[in-house]
Amino acid sequence: MILFPRKGVNQFIYNSMIDPSTIERIIDTAEITDVVQDFITLKKRGVNYIGLCPFHNEKTPSFTVSPSKGIFKCFGCGKGGNAVNFVMEHEHISWKDALKFLAKKYGIEIIEKETTDEEKEKHDERESMLLVTGFAQKFYTDNLIKNDEGLAIGMEYLKERGFRRPVIDKFQLGYSPDSWDSLTKEALKNGYKTEFLEKTGLTIKKGERLFDRFNGRIIFPIHSLSGKVIAFGARTLKQDKNTAKYLNSPESEIYHKSRILYGLSFARRSMVQNDKCFLVEGYTDVLSLHQSGIENVVASSGTSLTADQVRLIKRFTKNITILYDGDEAGLKASLRGVDLILEEGMNVKVLTFPEGEDPDSFARKTSSEQFIEYISKNELDFVLFKTRLLNEEANSDPVKKSMMISDIVRSVAKIPDRITRMVYIKECAGILKIEEKTLYAEAHEIRRRSAGKKLDYRYNDQGFKSEKPATQSTSQVKPNSERELHEREIIRLLINHGGRELFPFNEKTGEKELKVAEFIVNELERDELILSNTIYNSIISECRTLIDNNQFPTEKSFANHSNILISHIAADMLSSSYDISRIWKRKEAYVETEEEKLKELVPATILAFKSFLVRQELKDTEEKLREADSEESVLLQQRYMILKTANIQLAKQLGNRIVF
Ligand code: CTP
Ligand code: MN
Repeated sequence: MILFPRKGVNQFIYNSMIDPSTIERIIDTAEITDVVQDFITLKKRGVNYIGLCPFHNEKTPSFTVSPSKGIFKCFGCGKGGNAVNFVMEHEHISWKDALKFLAKKYGIEIIEKETTDEEKEKHDERESMLLVTGFAQKFYTDNLIKNDEGLAIGMEYLKERGFRRPVIDKFQLGYSPDSWDSLTKEALKNGYKTEFLEKTGLTIKKGERLFDRFNGRIIFPIHSLSGKVIAFGARTLKQDKNTAKYLNSPESEIYHKSRILYGLSFARRSMVQNDKCFLVEGYTDVLSLHQSGIENVVASSGTSLTADQVRLIKRFTKNITILYDGDEAGLKASLRGVDLILEEGMNVKVLTFPEGEDPDSFARKTSSEQFIEYISKNELDFVLFKTRLLNEEANSDPVKKSMMISDIVRSVAKIPDRITRMVYIKECAGILKIEEKTLYAEAHEIRRRSAGKKLDYRYNDQGFKSEKPATQSTSQVKPNSERELHEREIIRLLINHGGRELFPFNEKTGEKELKVAEFIVNELERDELILSNTIYNSIISECRTLIDNNQFPTEKSFANHSNILISHIAADMLSSSYDISRIWKRKEAYVETEEEKLKELVPATILAFKSFLVRQELKDTEEKLREADSEESVLLQQRYMILKTANIQLAKQLGNRIVF
């Protein structure tokens, strides 16, 4: 690896976001067994401690902690590292956040240095908004638990619905007084600015007057992944038909509805432990399940699930069970939405409740044991569930039946893993009493068509997915190999321009603004592409964490990184005017600056990488075809066709985009 000139390295270390001596202090103070024991039970075994590994499922302990070396190591799954790594891994947070976490635990003060003025402003704005939402939460909660009106109306209502104090406190529920401006007044009195009250949507300005958005409602604070209050849902207590049942905070700099799941910060640990996520519709469902002792539950809050939300869940578990209300019409309407989850390669089950019940009402009628038993007895694999449901309905009507078959096959075709697809086709064919071949052909056709239509096609069902990043060496792939050059170029763009805007907010479609880092990370995730260089991968996953916390990498985030390998790479990439012609094989000199071309350059770079991977796989498939037996060869040929189509499409898109 090219080492960055000494002078540069020092400069970056001095700019570091948390100052080095504080980092050292944190690492020195954090005692590994102490840190680990906050999360799992350890037993002494000789000079070491052992316990059940929190990172994979095991019955006999292979997770070892060495106090003398200050490290943990699991001999089952191979995970290991120091106290900071443990917190990162366990909490799914960045290196920096893990340091902050430990600093808090040990009462060490962190003084962070800020970067540019513009960044500082953005950061300050978000912080100010968070201060306001934090204040509002306390205000609402105080009103619920201390104020006469809140107790008489709000608390009384919650009690009547069967919610008890522990769950009310855990979710920081509140009550907004039935007045025009009690929150706004109180906030202004406490020195909060109108600007941020408005920006968080808590206060609405009409002419010269300020009004509270929420009044006379039960308040459900909405938390970010890391547990900060970023928005509110508010349920009316009035019976009046003209009053909306729920009012929610508007989208804001700190609250992007499509990227948030209600309850996630309270569910994440349990989701990892149980390797499963329950998805419900409403705030009250989440609360009821928690009260029943089921914590791995999140709500989509009444809207249909977005791809971002599915990916959020996927970071913690690949198994999801959707809990539906008892009403059949609503259920059928929502079946289509599930395809999005299948598409992400998740295992989807569904659970229905008796007519007229929802998870909330049902959980209140049963004990936790009964509820848990009901789930395990009644949850059904989604594809089979859908097949049975539609089959019953279409039974003797041939037109309906053929439409239904396409509908089911469309779902199956979304599943990225080939083997899983085949298993489903077999079972569905059995239920529908038609030939497997027919279903297979139809699924194949759908996949072929969608591969042609857009780049939404997944390459992973034959191998990309199984490509694990290297854990030991810096890089598995030879430096300067074609693949490595592609990867390096992607990372270079990310490091140099990650925080820059790629696509602006679209007023017509309402699509949100997209930053370069978001685009890159999403594109890689969409096709489950893992870079072959470990360091590049760490950079990508850190970006993901930043984005999830509504932050974006700046040029300095990586140059100042504590991991010396990352900071070297970053420094190197920031300093060199990179020789792009190595990939693009175009000679023209740059006229414009790179920033002005990001809109073309970034998508083209990603496309080029994908196109390269497809071509590689095509070559491999060709080779395999030569040696395949007849059964294998059928599958390989199908695969070959899909890849061919994808290849042509990619080449076309690429051709359209290259502008230099
Ligand atoms: N919702 C909303 N706006 C509405 C109605 C519903 O945002 N006007 C969202 C809320 O997040 C709500 C979810 O959709 O939690 C489910 O709606 P619903 O089942 O009507 O509400 P519940 O949460 O079940 O509330 P309750 O049990 O009090 O009726
Ligand atoms: Mn309900």
